[in-house]
Amino acid sequence: MAPVRDPNTLSNYDQWRTKHTTVNFKVDFAAKRLRGSVILELESQTDKSSNEIILDSNYVEVSAIKLNSAPSQWVVKDHTGPNGSPVHVAVPNGADKGEVVKLEIELATTDKCTALQWLTPAQTSNKKAPFMFSQCQAIHARSIFPCQDTPDVKSTYEFNIRSPHVVVASGVPVPSATEDAGEDKVYKFQQKVPIPSYLFAVASGDIASAPIGRCSSVATGPDELKASQWELQDDMDKFLDAAEKIVFPYQWGEYNVLVLPPSFPYGGMENPIFTFATPTIISGDRQNIDVIAHELAHSWSGNLVTSCSWEHFWLNEGWTVYLERRIQAAVHKNDAYFDFSAIIGWKHLEEAVEGFGKDHEYTKLSIKHDGIDPDDAFSSVPYEKGFHFIWSLDRLVGRDNFDKFIPYYFKKWQNKSLDSYDFKDTFLEFFSAPEYAGLKEKIAEIDWEGRFYNPGLPPKPEFNTSLVDVCFQLANKWRQKDYMPSPSDTSSWTGNQVLVFLNAVQDFEEPLTVEQSQNLGKVYGLADSKNVELKAAYYQVAMKAKDASSYPGVAELLGNVGRMKFVRTLFRSLNKVDRDLALKTFEKNRDFYHPICRQLVEKDLGVGEMKLS
Ligand code: BES
Ligand code: ZN
Repeated sequence: MAPVRDPNTLSNYDQWRTKHTTVNFKVDFAAKRLRGSVILELESQTDKSSNEIILDSNYVEVSAIKLNSAPSQWVVKDHTGPNGSPVHVAVPNGADKGEVVKLEIELATTDKCTALQWLTPAQTSNKKAPFMFSQCQAIHARSIFPCQDTPDVKSTYEFNIRSPHVVVASGVPVPSATEDAGEDKVYKFQQKVPIPSYLFAVASGDIASAPIGRCSSVATGPDELKASQWELQDDMDKFLDAAEKIVFPYQWGEYNVLVLPPSFPYGGMENPIFTFATPTIISGDRQNIDVIAHELAHSWSGNLVTSCSWEHFWLNEGWTVYLERRIQAAVHKNDAYFDFSAIIGWKHLEEAVEGFGKDHEYTKLSIKHDGIDPDDAFSSVPYEKGFHFIWSLDRLVGRDNFDKFIPYYFKKWQNKSLDSYDFKDTFLEFFSAPEYAGLKEKIAEIDWEGRFYNPGLPPKPEFNTSLVDVCFQLANKWRQKDYMPSPSDTSSWTGNQVLVFLNAVQDFEEPLTVEQSQNLGKVYGLADSKNVELKAAYYQVAMKAKDASSYPGVAELLGNVGRMKFVRTLFRSLNKVDRDLALKTFEKNRDFYHPICRQLVEKDLGVGEMKLS
């Protein structure tokens, strides 16, 4: 029986736990496969009472498994829904509690691998070399190698990756250990901090790097390097200083950013040592790097202290959004930035709740995941509802007190995984100290069950609206059909202010006229903005106005960005106004999108091969 603590693993990790993982892969660009072996060192949790090890896998080709260097009896079972095909390995005599057994698994990934994207040289910006990258969160690591694919298990890692091109990974490079192997080189990395499988990451291609901070570099294609360095170098250390002050010193050694090709499906992914990021953050105006503050914050919330299953994902993301907003306020030396970002987040939360319906399971903070693919349950809810819960606790006990709780919580749980109730217990334990006796009654009133399981919106707090008021004022002017805009309306604004304005216009009950919408795009320079965040928001306004002259631009943008936040929302809107163009655009760009994005857009549009699960 799979342990119920994580319904998205089929592994018997209550009986065996992975302590160390060695990955020996060759990056085979010609075949678009990783090949090689993985060595799992698993510690027995019981006294000889388990005679098999069950691992997660999904469309991996396993050719041999050795148990303690000898051939073993093993079988890959049938596919069972989103959790994949479990691999059963016999351990005939079991093992004493605490004894470590070694599984050496020979494998190759397949073309059904959901975690990897392979780009041909023609699909890269300088067209010189192929490129590959991984995206394992939430349950895609199992499609690279059999493992205990649950955030409840943490392992140290050793990476030996052979490739003809530069490799980065979620480990610290082992100095001067890059060996030559014919045309290939072997790139070695170590991750000494135990990490869950979803933080396993590799990428390889024509990658150059440049410094952006005291322990940070940015890596990307050589042609994009200067722009990426410029975008990040001013703020990287400020983010790090602010985060260390709020929590405690950074634990991972280096913090680097890999800026990926445009098909990267997320804004950012907090892979340790190397955050993976969308190139849409390199907008030439330093307006979209809040993504980096967010991924950096995961170095504490998520990567050190981890939710034990995707049911408690809010512990990763809610805390991270909270820390990200604290970092923004600290860096700008202005608390209004915290609220500013929270107001934008509230809008996303309202949209998500409206989209699912206010009683939907996915609008709960803690979501049941039995038989569910975490990618399907993904939304702003765990981020924003999680943030609101943490922020409400902060307000309840007062900032000074909460600031003492933060490092306590992260120290107590570092290198471990926890659920919502562990969090509750830790909070109550900390505030039961005599110096907090005055808070006793307030704390007793916290409705933990309601917070965890009530669907729909959480209580809405009073926001400091000082940074958004001007945005709403301008939006109101646009309600008058004869408003004459001028570039100076927005020229001194931050990107996020323009975004709030556009979102407000998009929400008008009566949409803009086609003429107004075109005028808005032109006068504020949105129609040809380099800032994809703004361009996408403008296109939403244009589609709402049914400005058909904007549709080709939408289709073009959909061929240039693969970040799901934009792709999915643009497709949904385009589908409403011109389904034919939406379908054609999807077909045309199918190979450009990452497998995860492709599958979700297929579902959104109601087309295509259904997911093979
Ligand atoms: N860890 C997430 C990305 C993720 C979540 C990947 C779940 C797969 C499954 C990452 O930290 C994230 O939240 N990225 C956001 C950034 C934003 C909130 C600033 C994104 O991609 O938009
Ligand atoms: Zn995140």
